[in-house]
Amino acid sequence: MTPLVIQNLTKSYGKLVAVENVSFKIQPGEVFGLLGPNGAGKTTIISSIVTLQAFKEGTIAVFGVDVQKNPRKAKEFIGFVPQELIHHGFFTVEEILKYHATYFGIPFDKGHINYLLEKLHLYHHRKKMVNQLSGGMKRRLLIIKALLHKPKLLLLDEPTAGVDIELRATLWNFIQELKKENLSILLTTHYLEEAERLCDRIGILDHGHLRMVDTTENMLKAHSSKRVTFLLFSPLPPLTHPHLKNQDSHQLEFCVPNDLPVPKLLSQVPLEAIQDIHIKMGTLEDVMENVLNGAPP
Ligand SMILES: Nc1ncnc2c1ncn2[C@@H]1O[C@H](COP(=O)(O)OP(=O)(O)OP(=O)(O)O)[C@@H](O)[C@H]1O
Ligand SMILES: [Mg+2]
Repeated sequence: MTPLVIQNLTKSYGKLVAVENVSFKIQPGEVFGLLGPNGAGKTTIISSIVTLQAFKEGTIAVFGVDVQKNPRKAKEFIGFVPQELIHHGFFTVEEILKYHATYFGIPFDKGHINYLLEKLHLYHHRKKMVNQLSGGMKRRLLIIKALLHKPKLLLLDEPTAGVDIELRATLWNFIQELKKENLSILLTTHYLEEAERLCDRIGILDHGHLRMVDTTENMLKAHSSKRVTFLLFSPLPPLTHPHLKNQDSHQLEFCVPNDLPVPKLLSQVPLEAIQDIHIKMGTLEDVMENVLNGAPP
């Protein structure tokens, strides 16, 4: 059974069409990244999956269960980390998790709770009141809450916003571990490096429209390029080369496919003229810019 199937989803808030005719699927063990500028409709899609927002057009099925027809059953499969930090501040971390488990009818499994507390580096903070936690700690607590009932589809709406670099790396490793356990993950993020590392496939959303869905690898291949800059000791006569972007007295700049080896360019430039070489691989930032602004790759 496919973890998530969204078909022709359209969601409006009054006159504003926030999401229009969006369709995509997520396969078991897949990390799917939903990327797009502020207001593109990412949170609206996630809110529709967890039935926080009702929609009139389209369907969403989680492991074959229609979320609008059978929301309770569908939500049993889902773990959800919202973008907004909402917590009851006057309980300790441990109490919050205990209440959360009891409230949602999840068997109280201290071993599992402690495992998650350790994994997300909150174990030593478990006796703290939630309102004494930092923003990044509160976000990690949200992730633990989402995982308590061992979901099969995890929805992460900007899980690393406000999380420091070290913990972001911890979280990335943890997401990769969850993926190995065959958990399917829908992730939104504005950190494109994060998306590049974690996501098998990516959907680019813009003004409610899904502009492109493809593997991260294909997107990078088709819509980004490697910049190779030769810094020169002295000016060279004008060169003609299909990948040459800029030439001035100090440097030559080439934009080539990510998989083109740099030595192939060396034949273009006399070795004794080269002072240094800078290489910048194509990134998802280039992809987003190209897809959203329609610029050529
Ligand atoms: N409850 C709401 N009522 C009315 N309009 C809303 C509501 N929630 C979102 N919108 C609007 O719908 C559009 C999509 O918002 P959404 O929150 O889905 O974007 P997003 O892609 O998650 O953006 P961000 O990257 O800033 O989180 C925006 O124009 C937003 O103003
Ligand atoms: Mg959002």
